[in-house]
Amino acid sequence: MDEYKVVTHNENETISIAQNIESEKFQNMVICLNGDLGSGKTLFTKGFANAMGIDDVTSPTFTIIKEYQGELMLYHMDVYRLEDSNEEIGVEEYYDRGGVTIIEWSDMIRDRLPKERLEIKFVITGENTRTLVFTPYGEKYRNICESAL
Ligand SMILES: Nc1ncnc2c1ncn2[C@@H]1O[C@H](COP(=O)(O)OP(=O)(O)O)[C@@H](O)[C@H]1O
Ligand SMILES: [Mg+2]
Repeated sequence: MDEYKVVTHNENETISIAQNIESEKFQNMVICLNGDLGSGKTLFTKGFANAMGIDDVTSPTFTIIKEYQGELMLYHMDVYRLEDSNEEIGVEEYYDRGGVTIIEWSDMIRDRLPKERLEIKFVITGENTRTLVFTPYGEKYRNICESAL
């Protein structure tokens, strides 16, 4: 399986990676983010959203899904609390609505992810250093890793 590792040394480097990926966006793109609390999942999403023309992204922890109108719609999910809430949200219904879906803690819903997607694992390696491990599932996502990383 392909894997692309990128080390960032500060917030801005993580943001610029997010911007690079954003420049390769397409309709129905799905990006899955995993990694410990404080590893940079929401920061990455903010950087991506910003490049899409969306500047008011906040963590959707308590609402599960937030929708934003940018160049494309952005569906930002944080499914950490999904298991213990009785709420039935149709996560799958967002994948093919023509926007971009970003899912924090996607490992918690592995059986509900699309076959083709970009997974990014955030690993904390120091106060300001993170290792981002990209795993593309599908040709389109592999191409993105090749050109944006
Ligand atoms: N290289 C880095 N990349 C991303 N975040 C960093 C980095 N260095 C320090 N940070 C800090 O780590 C925190 C990441 O928070 P956040 O994005 O909310 O994490 P998560 O959504 O994974 O819980 C922020 O306070 C950010 O300033
Ligand atoms: Mg977060």
